[in-house]
Amino acid sequence: MSDPQIDAHGRLRHLLTLDGLGRPRLTALLDRAAALREAARAGHLPALLAGRTVVNLFFEPSTRTRTSFELAARRLGALVVNFDIASSSTSKGETLEDTLATLEAMDSDAFVVRHKENGTPARLAAHARRAAVLNAGDGNRAHPTQGLLDLLTIRDHKGRIDGLTVTICGDVKHSRVARSDVHGLAALGAGDIRLCGPSALLPAATEFPGCAVGDDFDAAIAGADVVIMLRMQKERMETLPGLDEADYFARYGLDRARLARARPEAIVMHPGPMNRGIEIAPEVADGAQSVILAQVANGIFARMAVLAELLQH
Ligand code: CP
Repeated sequence: MSDPQIDAHGRLRHLLTLDGLGRPRLTALLDRAAALREAARAGHLPALLAGRTVVNLFFEPSTRTRTSFELAARRLGALVVNFDIASSSTSKGETLEDTLATLEAMDSDAFVVRHKENGTPARLAAHARRAAVLNAGDGNRAHPTQGLLDLLTIRDHKGRIDGLTVTICGDVKHSRVARSDVHGLAALGAGDIRLCGPSALLPAATEFPGCAVGDDFDAAIAGADVVIMLRMQKERMETLPGLDEADYFARYGLDRARLARARPEAIVMHPGPMNRGIEIAPEVADGAQSVILAQVANGIFARMAVLAELLQH
């Protein structure tokens, strides 16, 4: 079966998932993001997207992803429309496909889509006639640009992905970030990927072949190069697991004592939004090993790279 995000010439047509993109394409996107960052720092960002129109279609809340897609597109010269779902005709029963076709008829070149239902960006991509669709997070399935910015941040700080030990802790079961991170880390050769959390918030081990899955954070963090903390995604849970926040922090929170079990030069990451005092202690979130704000900054360049790759032809 053909890959819906690759066109007949082998070019990236949409960005729906990191799954199956492969090392050369991922590396090229990271290199392009780093080059755009250098250009921005030198004050020479090229207007690669001049004349293009990018539409943000966010059906779920967002701070980081929506803002950084907008800044990325604007700084490369595109016109950006932040589609207001609440006041749109979707509330009168218009289908998402008809909404997309309507906006595409207005010469929109790209749609950045976030939705609570798995597969919505792929569904819209199948319907798009000319425009590119970029997945900004669908359900618990994929958040590919978060995966890219996480890979870029790890590569910046560790110089490589190959052979690293990466611990991802928290609500892995409901996390699209964990899935995209694992797809990217595995493709780029991370040596030991450990998924950890309370058993009620862990995925089936069969979903993550090659990863260690367990509920003992002290064991999972031992010797890690990279520690990625996740929040509990209550909005995606059918029933709350009945975890007391203080108990959760005691077993799965990242404080200084627990971080000391990782390698001394380990970096701490979090995709945000953070729940301080639940999955991460403030002194760790703001501490010397935290690269959380570097992740945010890299989000702009990862998104620039993807937009340029999809629209510059
Ligand atoms: N990491 C992330 O997706 O954050 P937002 O929900 O704020 O976009």
